[in-house]
Amino acid sequence: MSARKQLIEKIAELKRSKNAVILAHNYQSGEVQDVADYVGDSLGLAYKARESQADVILFCGVHFMAETAKIVNPSKKVLVPDKDAGCSLSDSCPADKLSLFLDAHRSENYYVVAYINCSAGVKALSDVICTSGNAARIVGRVPAERKILFVPDRNLGEWVTQQTGRSMTLWEGSCHVHMAFTRESMIAVRERYPDAIVLAHPECVHAVRSLADEVCSTEKMVSYCRQSASKSFIIATEADMLHRLKKELPDREFIAAPPDAWVAKDCKCAHCEFMKCNTLEKMLAALESGRPEIDIEAELRERAFLPVERMLEWSRT
Ligand code: 13P
Ligand code: SF4
Repeated sequence: MSARKQLIEKIAELKRSKNAVILAHNYQSGEVQDVADYVGDSLGLAYKARESQADVILFCGVHFMAETAKIVNPSKKVLVPDKDAGCSLSDSCPADKLSLFLDAHRSENYYVVAYINCSAGVKALSDVICTSGNAARIVGRVPAERKILFVPDRNLGEWVTQQTGRSMTLWEGSCHVHMAFTRESMIAVRERYPDAIVLAHPECVHAVRSLADEVCSTEKMVSYCRQSASKSFIIATEADMLHRLKKELPDREFIAAPPDAWVAKDCKCAHCEFMKCNTLEKMLAALESGRPEIDIEAELRERAFLPVERMLEWSRT
């Protein structure tokens, strides 16, 4: 048996003996996705974490996602393969900066809608959380008389305003992976594959979103392609998204949209280095040692739970 296969078998064995479940985001590497019990977007992962009956959740994604799992299901041991798997978007809105902003704008009495890509500290300062899969729906539920502050992603916020007609004050945050797609890179790839449908994540800038046939969350990309009559799709998001798409829809063609600086060099694609911190080796080590574990101070967790819970409820009803 190859060393890789042995590693995968050891992970499966430990998963059984520790009564663990493996949750993975759509941007994880193919081999991490393949050993997971569930692969999905931030919203699907939050639901799965909340309903999990396992003793241990091994969360393969970035830190804020694992933190969300602990927030919604605190009695479980939540492990991450690599505790340094951060997120540039989450980092663009530190809790202390948000707190200062809210203090300075007390008179506005903002209703704070936070995209799930943020720390527990930011969630605790928010009224409701949203993901790319439910953002328009969540913003649509905010009482009409309240002014909204949307953090941390300005692009998603702008897109939600387009969808809902609701004007919002936008935090100046962004994701470096999605910012790398530009109008020029999208025009170049469209010219090369003129028959392909273009899907873009809402974290992309307006110029990119407006060239797309559909703007949606990573989970919706899968369902959109499944029900589409088209044979080929250009995907403007993190490139390992294509692993799941190709696996579930093997008869279709998927093209990773190229980030701008690399258009000329052709086949380079957008990677989130934080998502790639997780490896099979680190997954095995985490299951063996029970570390690194997500730990959130109880009072902070309780404050962060309320807006997440509100999102889960508003998403369902
Ligand atoms: P999704 O919830 O659409 O999977 O997005 C998560 C993310 O981090 C996008 O960069
Ligand atoms: Fe964060 Fe961007 Fe990576 Fe998503 S792709 S986890 S927003 S850095």
